[in-house]
Amino acid sequence: MSPPRLPADECMPPSLWPDSPQGFNVTNARFAWKLRDARLGAAQTSRHIQVVRVDDTSIPQANAFAGEPVWDSGEVFSTDSLYVPYEGPPLEPHTRYHWRVRIRDHKGHLLPWSSAAWFETAFAEPSPNWPATGWVTANDSDNPQCPHLRKTFTLAARPRSARLYITARGLFEARLNGGRVGEDLLTPGWTDYTRRIEYLTYDVTANLSTGPNTLGVILADGWYAGHLGWNAATPNRHYGPKPALLAVLRIVGQDGSVRWIGTDESWQTACGPLISADLYHGEHYDARRELPGWCDAPPHLCGTWQPAVPIEFPAVELNARELSSVRQHEETPPVSMRTPSPGRCIIDFGQNLIGVIRLRITALAGTKITLRHAEMVQNDGELYTANLRSARATDIYVCCGGGRAEIFQPRFTFHGFRYVEISGLTAPLQSDDVRAVVLHTGMTPTGTFETSNPLLNQLQSCIRWGQRSNFLEVPTDCPQRDERLGWTGDAQVFIPTATFNYDVAPFYRKWLRDLTDAQRADGAFPDVAPDLLKLMYGPDRRTGNAAWADAGVICPWVLYQRYGDTDVLARNYSAMTRWIDYQESTSCNHIRPATSFGDWLALDGGPSPSGSLTPGELIGTAYFAHTTGIMAQVASLLGHTAESLRFAALRHHIVTAFNRRFVATDVRLTSDTQTAYLLALAFDLLPEASRPTAVAHLERTLKRHHYHLATGFVGTPLLAPVLTRFGRLDLAYRLLQNKTYPSWLFPVANGATTMWERWNSWTPDDGFGDVNMNSFNHYAYGSIGDWMYRTVGGLDLSEPGYRRLLLRPRPGGGLTSAAASLDTPYGLASSAWHQTATGLEWNILVPPNTTALLFPPARSLNEVRVDGLAWDDHCGIQFMEPQEQEPVLACVAGSYRLHIAPPENSINSGTNETSITPQPIANFSR
Ligand code: BGC
Repeated sequence: MSPPRLPADECMPPSLWPDSPQGFNVTNARFAWKLRDARLGAAQTSRHIQVVRVDDTSIPQANAFAGEPVWDSGEVFSTDSLYVPYEGPPLEPHTRYHWRVRIRDHKGHLLPWSSAAWFETAFAEPSPNWPATGWVTANDSDNPQCPHLRKTFTLAARPRSARLYITARGLFEARLNGGRVGEDLLTPGWTDYTRRIEYLTYDVTANLSTGPNTLGVILADGWYAGHLGWNAATPNRHYGPKPALLAVLRIVGQDGSVRWIGTDESWQTACGPLISADLYHGEHYDARRELPGWCDAPPHLCGTWQPAVPIEFPAVELNARELSSVRQHEETPPVSMRTPSPGRCIIDFGQNLIGVIRLRITALAGTKITLRHAEMVQNDGELYTANLRSARATDIYVCCGGGRAEIFQPRFTFHGFRYVEISGLTAPLQSDDVRAVVLHTGMTPTGTFETSNPLLNQLQSCIRWGQRSNFLEVPTDCPQRDERLGWTGDAQVFIPTATFNYDVAPFYRKWLRDLTDAQRADGAFPDVAPDLLKLMYGPDRRTGNAAWADAGVICPWVLYQRYGDTDVLARNYSAMTRWIDYQESTSCNHIRPATSFGDWLALDGGPSPSGSLTPGELIGTAYFAHTTGIMAQVASLLGHTAESLRFAALRHHIVTAFNRRFVATDVRLTSDTQTAYLLALAFDLLPEASRPTAVAHLERTLKRHHYHLATGFVGTPLLAPVLTRFGRLDLAYRLLQNKTYPSWLFPVANGATTMWERWNSWTPDDGFGDVNMNSFNHYAYGSIGDWMYRTVGGLDLSEPGYRRLLLRPRPGGGLTSAAASLDTPYGLASSAWHQTATGLEWNILVPPNTTALLFPPARSLNEVRVDGLAWDDHCGIQFMEPQEQEPVLACVAGSYRLHIAPPENSINSGTNETSITPQPIANFSR
C-alpha cells in the first residue's frame, strides 16, 4: 500500500493521492513525509509518529489531531522518512485515522509536530462479499449496454457520515440526489476482471439529506464488455456480455448505528440518452432521450423503469483502488478552424493528445452532429484516419433543441487526436464552442527538463505528451487505434523516463499487479497486461518474449531504484523468480530461443516490424543475463543470500554462453548490428578487455548508417547511455541532434507534438508509413528522456530513492544551457548549468535528508568555486576521490552555485587537489 503523506501545506508536494487516501487497504499502512527545511545540511535524526482513531468520519478539519490514541511510535533514532511501517494494533475497517510526525533535526533539535494527515480504511481484504449487496444489471429488453440504474431510500435524519463503495463490470458514473459523485472518469478502470476488480470509495455525507434520497448510476461497456483488441469491427465483449453494478452505501447515524443500502432487485433500470458508448468507437448520445430529474430526491416521473436483474458471478478479489483514477486535466482551445464544406468544420488543436471534445451547440431537436477524430490530416486537409484501423473514434450527438445551448462531452470513451471534424452543423461554430479536454490517469508532475536548443525542448514536450497520452489506466502502446494495450516491452523501455516526468509509482504498482495476475503458470510473463491476447487467441499463444516479458523484473527494479521502496521488490519477488526459472528451463545451454518481436521496428532488417537483423536468440540471451543479474541484487537486498548466489552463478553461465555463441575473436558479434553491440555493452556481457573494441565496432555500425541510428524498441534506449558510458559522449550528442531521418529530431523538425511509433511514420518522400501499424503517439522512442535528464541535465541518483543524488551534467552538442529538476521522494532536486562569459555556472539543489555526489564538468577541482568560495572553504562541500580521472565532490542538503572556470584558467593556479585534506561530512552545519 502506498504510504500516506503529509498534506500539501506541510510538505511541498501534494500527496500520492490527489484527493485523499480514502478507501485505504486495511493492512499494510506505511508513512512518508518530506522535510521542508532550506538550511544547509538539513536532515532528520529521529522520528516520532502518532496515530489516533477519529470517530466522526465527516470531512476532517485541516490540521486537526484529536481522537483515541492508537499508536505512538515513541522517538526512534532513524533517518528514514519514507515507507515507515505502521506497527500499532490491527487497523479497523471503515475507520478514519489521523496521524502526525515530529522529527529531530541534524542539530539535535526537536521540531514542532507536523499538522495532521489522515487516511481511512475501507473493507478488510480480501472481501468478496459486501453486506446487503449483490451484482445487478439491466433487463435485456432495455438497452443493456448503457442503462441507468437507481434506488430511492428514506433517511429519518441526516447521517453522521456516509460512504459509497462502488464498482462495476464495465464503467460507472454515480449520482446522488442529482449531483455527480466524485470527478473520476472511466471508473473502476481496467484489471483482469476474471481475477480482481477495484472499487472506489466516496464520502457522500454532505450529499444526503433527511427524507427521500436517490442514488443513481449510469453504466457503459468500457474495457469489460466493449471492443478491445484489433479487428474490433464486431462486438468482442471479452470479459462479459454487458455491464453490471455493485454498490453499497454505508450510512452511520447520529447514534452510531450503521445502515447498509446496496444493489439488489429493489433497484430500477431504464434506458437513457446513451445509445452506445465504446472506448474505440466513441459515444452516441441522443439528448432527446434524456431523463430529467431521474435521480433527484425524490426522482421526477420520467422514463420506463423496470426492476434491476440480480446476477451471479464467480467470486473475484475486490480491492480498494490505490491509484488515482482517470481525471479531466486541461482544456485546449482550437488553434485553427476550417469549413471545407457547408455544415462541416475541421479543427486543429495544435497538439496531439488524449481526451474528448466538449462542444457547445444550439440547434433544432433531432440535429445530428458527428465528431470524427484524427491525429493527422492528409495533403487535401481531410482527416487521416486509416491508421486508426477499425476504431471508429466517432462521437454522435443528437440535439434536443428548444433554443438553448446544449453541452456535449462524452464520458465513456476517449480518443487520441489532434484534429476533429465536426459535421451536421446548422450554424457556424465559434472557437469558444469547442475545447479538447485532456484525460488521463491522475499523476503528480515531478520533473522538468529544458535546454538552450528549442528542438530538444520540443522533443521533451513530445515525450511528456506521449506519456500523458498513454498513461490512461495501464501503460498503453497508443491511445488512438484499435489496440491501446498494456504492452510490456514498451512499458519497460519507457519506465525510467516516466519516473522523471511524473510520480508514476502508484501507476506502475497497480500495473505490476495486472502483470503478475497475467503471468502464466509456467512463469512466462505475457506480451500485454491485462492479458487480452490470452482472451483473443487462447492460453496457448506464445508468451515469454524477450525484452517484453522482462518487464516483470525490470519494472519493479526501476521502481525500487527511483522511489527507494523495497516493498515493490518483496511483493513481486516470487513472480520475478519464476520468470528467471522459466527462462532457465526453456533455454538450450543458456541460449534463449528466438523471440516474436526481435528489435521491434528496427531499420536494419526487412519490412516486417520484427524483422530486425539482430537475432532473437541474441536479444533473448542478453536479456536473460540482464534480468538474472538484477535478480542477484534483488535477492541479496531482500536477504535471500543463497538465491542471490544462485542467480549470480546462473548469470555467469549465461554470459559465458553468450560469448561462446555470439562473439567472435575480434569481438565482432554475429549479427554486427547497433543493437547487438549495445546489448553486449549495456548489460556487461563482454570481458573488460574486449569492450573498447566493441565500442569501435558500434561506431563502425553507426558509420555504416551515416552516423544515424538503425535501432528499434530494444536498441534505442541503450544508444545514448552506452555511448556516454564508454567515452563517446560526442556520438551520443551527434545522434540526439541529428535532424535528418532517422533520428529523434526528424519528427520534431517535421512538426511532431508527440512521439511517433516508427522512425518513418511520416517522411516527405513517402508520406505516411505502413498504415497497418502507424501511431503518432507511441512513447517507446521517448525512452531517450531518461538520458536527457541524467546526462544532459546531470540529475541522477547514486542511492535508491535519491537518498544520495548523483549530479553530473555532461555539457556537449553545442548546448549553452540545460536544466533538470525532479521532485524526489525527499523533495525538490535540481541541476541547471549555463555557459557564461567566464566559464560555466552550475546551480544545484539537494533536498533535505539527502546528500549528493557532484561531478563538476571540470578537468580539475582547481577550476571549481562554490558560492563564491574556493570549494574547500565551503562547509557544505567535501572532497571525494576522483573517479575515472574526473574530479568528485560530495555535499549535504542545500542549494549551491558552482562556477567552473574554463580549463586554461586553471593551468598554473598552483593547487593540486590531491593535497587537499578531506573534510568529514558530519561537520557541515553553519
Ligand atoms: C504495439 C507495440 C508493441 C508491439 C509488439 C504493436 O502493435 O503497438 O508497441 O510492443 O505490437 O508486437
